[in-house]
Amino acid sequence: MPHIHDIMMFVARDEQDKVIGYIQWIHKSGFRKEAVIELEQIAVLQANQNQGVATKLIEKSLADVQLYLTDNSATLKSILVSTRADNTAQELYKKTLGAEVVLVVKDLYSADEVLMIANK
Ligand SMILES: CC(C)(COP(=O)(O)OP(=O)(O)OC[C@H]1O[C@@H](n2cnc3c(N)ncnc32)[C@H](O)[C@@H]1OP(=O)(O)O)[C@@H](O)C(=O)NCCC(=O)NCCS
Repeated sequence: MPHIHDIMMFVARDEQDKVIGYIQWIHKSGFRKEAVIELEQIAVLQANQNQGVATKLIEKSLADVQLYLTDNSATLKSILVSTRADNTAQELYKKTLGAEVVLVVKDLYSADEVLMIANK
């Protein structure tokens, strides 16, 4: 049975085995059989951006997270992700997760923040 707020981290490496990006997922729904997960953090080294690294990181790690849920007899209900309203990462989340903006929080950290959800 998954624990409440399990954290799963994955890294991307280049041909020299150097870490060039990472992603962190959080399982937020505890013991529920219909799981809600959050894409909590993702970043790619500046020199390696715009080459599809984040896209691959999301797609491959999400497949592993799905396996982990299946192993724990859970199914994926929703994916949450939030980002600054002006971050191009919004496009990334739309494309890779099918996430849509559901609300905007005014001036949360340093600017407006959007909460995006993909229902599976
Ligand atoms: C957001 C981030 C992880 C994207 O990583 P990346 O490896 O460059 O992303 P990809 O190459 O896989 O790009 C995927 C999509 O993101 C969007 N995107 C990425 N960079 C973009 C840019 N500079 N301008 C517009 N769209 C952009 C595009 O939709 C792109 O799709 P396309 O390749 O079909 O055009 C990276 O820019 C980063 O580390 N930023 C700093 C940290 C950050 O902001 N993290 C997210 C916080 S919530």
